[in-house]
Amino acid sequence: MSASTSSESAQAFYGRWARLYDLIARRTPGIPHLRKRAATACRLETGDTVVEMGCGTGANLPSLRERVGPEGTVIGIDFTRPVLERARESTSEYDNVHVARGDATQSPFDAVAGDADIDALLATFVVGMLDDPAGAVDDWCDLVGPDGHVVLANAARSDAWYAPPINAVFRAIVVLSTPPTTKLLYEDEPHLRLDRKIDAAHRRLRERSAAIADETHVFGVVRVTGGRLE
Ligand SMILES: C[S@@+](CC[C@H](N)C(=O)[O-])C[C@H]1O[C@@H](n2cnc3c(N)ncnc32)[C@H](O)[C@@H]1O
Repeated sequence: MSASTSSESAQAFYGRWARLYDLIARRTPGIPHLRKRAATACRLETGDTVVEMGCGTGANLPSLRERVGPEGTVIGIDFTRPVLERARESTSEYDNVHVARGDATQSPFDAVAGDADIDALLATFVVGMLDDPAGAVDDWCDLVGPDGHVVLANAARSDAWYAPPINAVFRAIVVLSTPPTTKLLYEDEPHLRLDRKIDAAHRRLRERSAAIADETHVFGVVRVTGGRLE
């Protein structure tokens, strides 16, 4: 599938399922806690500017806003209009949370925060959808710059001893939620492809960081990597 076709099908998929996705994104057991941990890993202070790439329906945005306070700035970027509308609705009470349509892989990102320095960048459950996840992480690290933080959270197969049944459920979820869902024959198993992309993204973040914090959540299925950049 070409890059533009996969990006169009991702937008069509998340656009169609925006309401259901929002419910899953906010209510799945273990996920609200994981979101708090990912926001904490951004190491934000009052008045900071934080960008969320692929913010979806905005489930992380209130928690980021809480950390930067009324003097800070939160910017959510996503390329799917219907999910952005939900993100906008759910954060309308804050005048310092901005939601904008954009491609998380299209550098330069000057339009993202104007002249503001970006203190941290968060991307949860996004890099698995990108054609070149390590390249995107490089661009994001360049955008944030030295001493800033980049945080990734992603679901991949677990290595834990109790993992086989969890991995089976994970595999089913990935196959069902990989756009387009009508495609029955994959050239490459989607859960293995996803694992490779996530490994590449987290590895690149480790390479670019002076200090790293790694955590796993939700029975070892979700990895959070936070890096303070060199
Ligand atoms: C699985 S959802 C995760 C949403 C959100 N980060 C969360 O944790 O709930 C992936 C999101 O990434 C967005 N996305 C994927 N590729 C993107 C890209 N290249 N540029 C902008 N958004 C992208 C999709 O539109 C979708 O909303």
